[in-house]
Amino acid sequence: MLFTPYTLKSIRFRNRIACSPMCQYSAVDGLANPWHQGHYTSQARGGSALVVVEATAVSPEGRITPACLGLWNDAQAESLTPVIAAIKAAGAVAGIQIGHAGRKASANRPWEGDDHMPEGDPRGWQTIAPSAVAFGANLPRVPREMSKADINRVRQDFVAAAKRARDLGIEFLMLHFSHGYLAQNFFSTWSNQRHDEYGGSPENRRRFLLETFEAVRQVWPEHLPLCVRLGMVEFDGNDDTTLAESIELAQRFKQLGLDFLDISMGFSTPTAKIPWGPAFLEPIAARALKETGLPGSTTWNISTPELAEHLVSTGIVNMVMIGRPLLANPHWPYAAAKKLGVEKPDWVLPAPYAHWLERYHGA
Ligand SMILES: Cc1cc2nc3c(=O)[nH]c(=O)nc-3n(C[C@H](O)[C@H](O)[C@H](O)COP(=O)(O)O)c2cc1C
Repeated sequence: MLFTPYTLKSIRFRNRIACSPMCQYSAVDGLANPWHQGHYTSQARGGSALVVVEATAVSPEGRITPACLGLWNDAQAESLTPVIAAIKAAGAVAGIQIGHAGRKASANRPWEGDDHMPEGDPRGWQTIAPSAVAFGANLPRVPREMSKADINRVRQDFVAAAKRARDLGIEFLMLHFSHGYLAQNFFSTWSNQRHDEYGGSPENRRRFLLETFEAVRQVWPEHLPLCVRLGMVEFDGNDDTTLAESIELAQRFKQLGLDFLDISMGFSTPTAKIPWGPAFLEPIAARALKETGLPGSTTWNISTPELAEHLVSTGIVNMVMIGRPLLANPHWPYAAAKKLGVEKPDWVLPAPYAHWLERYHGA
C-alpha cells in the first residue's frame, strides 16, 4: 500500500511517502538559496510523493531563527520559484508549510544552542504570543501579549503568504498549527491566559486558529489540498481533555474546508513526558482521523518501511510524514520499496540513479 498512488482533490501523489517539513536554518533574510535548491531537489528525486518545504515564516518576527525561510515579500517568493520547479520536475508534489513561531521565535539555530538569543542581542527581536508567558527552559524570553490589531495583522500575514504560495504554483499548503508555535500558543492553556474572546474556554482558544484557517481557505484554490499540522496532545498528563478538544477543533476545520489533517504533538511545555518509541502517535492518529473522518497523515519515529506500510495498509493514515530518515537518505523511499519487495514502484527514479541503484541492489 505504501507504494500505491493516492489522489486528494486534483492532486495525484505517486506513493504515500511525504518528506515532512524540516527547517534547514540556512536562509539569509528569509530567502531560499542554493542549499535549499539542492536539499529539496534531492528529496524530490529520492522518490517521496510529496515534499513539504520547511516552516516558512509569514512575517519577520514569526521566524524561529534568523536563518528561517520567509514568505512575507515578493523577493522571498521569487527565491523559491526554482525550488518549486525542481520538486515538480522530479515528479513530486510541491508543498510548503507556513507558520509563525510565536513565543518560541528569536532563537539560535539548533547547532548554535537551540535556545533563545539573549535580550538585547541585535540579531534577536521582540516575540509575540497570546499572553506574556515564556515557554521556559531553553526558551525563557517573555513574549509581548498580542493586541487585537496584532491578531488581525498576523491573520492577514497568513493570507498574504498563502497567496504567494498559490501564485508560486505550490500544490499543497500546510498550516503550522503545532509544536508550540503561535497557533498552538493560542490553543494551549500552557501559553494562553487571555481573558478576552481569544482565551479561556476551548471555543475562545480555538478562535485564532479557526479565523486564520477560514481566511486562508478563501484564497487557497478549492481544487488544491489545504492541510493543518495540529499538535493533538501535550503528553502533560491532561491528554484526555486535550485530545477531545483537538478532535473537536479538527472537526471545525473540516466544516470550514480542511482537506487533510497531519497529526503531531503540541510541544507547549518543557515538562512534557513524551513516550518516544516507534510510531508513538499511532493511537492518537487512529482515533483522530477515525472520529473526524478526515484524510490525513502522522509523523514521529516512523523509522522503518514496515511501520510506514502498517500505518497506511491498516487505513490509519493516507500518507506518512517522514523526517530524519529522509535527511539521512533522500532515497529512503527507494530503499523502502526494495525492503518491502515492491519491484516496480510507481514512480520514476531519474535514470542516472535508477540504473546504478538497480545494479547495486541486484548485485
Ligand atoms: C531538522 C528538523 C527540522 C524540522 N523542522 C520542522 C518544520 O519546519 N516544521 C514542522 O512542522 N516540523 C519540523 N520538524 C519535525 C519533522 O517534520 C518531523 O515531524 C519529525 O522530525 C518527526 O519525524 P521523524 O521521526 O521521521 O524525524 C523538523 C524536524 C527536524 C529533524
